[in-house]
Amino acid sequence: MSLKKRIEVVRTEFRAAIESFPDEPKLIEALRVKFLGRNGQVAQLFERMSQASKSERPVYGKLLNELKNELSTSFQKKIDTLKYATATKSKPNIDYSLPGVAYKIGSKHPIELVTDELKDIFKSVGFSIAYGPEIDDDYHNFSALNFPKHHPARDMQDTFFVDPDTVLRTHTSNVQIHLMENQDPPLRYIVPGRVYRNESISYKSYCLFHQIEGLYVDKHVTFSEMKSILHYFVRQIFGKDIKIRFRPSYFPFTEPSAEVDIWDSDRGQWLEILGCGMVDPNVFKNVGYDPEIWQGYAFGLGIERIAMLKYKINDIRILYQNDIRFLGQF
Ligand code: DAH
Repeated sequence: MSLKKRIEVVRTEFRAAIESFPDEPKLIEALRVKFLGRNGQVAQLFERMSQASKSERPVYGKLLNELKNELSTSFQKKIDTLKYATATKSKPNIDYSLPGVAYKIGSKHPIELVTDELKDIFKSVGFSIAYGPEIDDDYHNFSALNFPKHHPARDMQDTFFVDPDTVLRTHTSNVQIHLMENQDPPLRYIVPGRVYRNESISYKSYCLFHQIEGLYVDKHVTFSEMKSILHYFVRQIFGKDIKIRFRPSYFPFTEPSAEVDIWDSDRGQWLEILGCGMVDPNVFKNVGYDPEIWQGYAFGLGIERIAMLKYKINDIRILYQNDIRFLGQF
């Protein structure tokens, strides 16, 4: 067989072998030794060159070099694809060079932040937390709280009616009645929750807002005790230098009653943040507590007001728009 023919035989044989390339390291090495090793097919062909005539040698030399290059290139190519395949086989097909996915993490709503803070403050001075219905009857929202039927005091709170006897509660004070109906004194609760009023919407009022009601009933409860608790809570929230004043007021369910203002130094004005007072004896009678034995104080504060002062928010409506550019700041 001529050297030229042998070259073609080796080429064909190698191409067939590489076609069914094994993925077993030992077999791959055997294949390499067989064709490209020191005594492999290609090396043997090179040895045969000495038998060729002087004039044929450069021709064969060229053919042999071409063969050698083809074989080593395609052998290396196979090795590379095999390496890649084993490298990716057991791992998920992930491109680690891609930029990561930035997940947006939510934050607490300012109303929630203030509510949590207030709950902690009142818990630390012995209050428990209770909740009550947002849809309630006229009795719990008004009558039991000493709002007589057809009394103008009901106009203080523009009410959403579900039916003539059922309302969306206008304040959390309805829960005072539920609590006292369901347990004997002494009791000491705060009640966070949503309340609803049919008011015209503006930068300072919204049809829905949040309150925290406080109720403490025991023997020998005094107005000055209430004052000091409320003063304490205001200082906890706004810092010890905050200016605060108690101003006489009127609520049907407390006597005497007061409102608490804090000084808004940014605007240079007093701002009302809560109403409070000593529980009216009529309220105690309505729930079957003896007003000769029990006294109590109650208060109701607006959470939005406090959040707006604390975070310097000048329009209540933004708290209800779910704009993440705003909410993301908290
Ligand atoms: N319920 C009153 C309101 O929504 C606030 C309030 C005033 C609650 C005095 C009280 C209180 O418990 O004693 O305007």
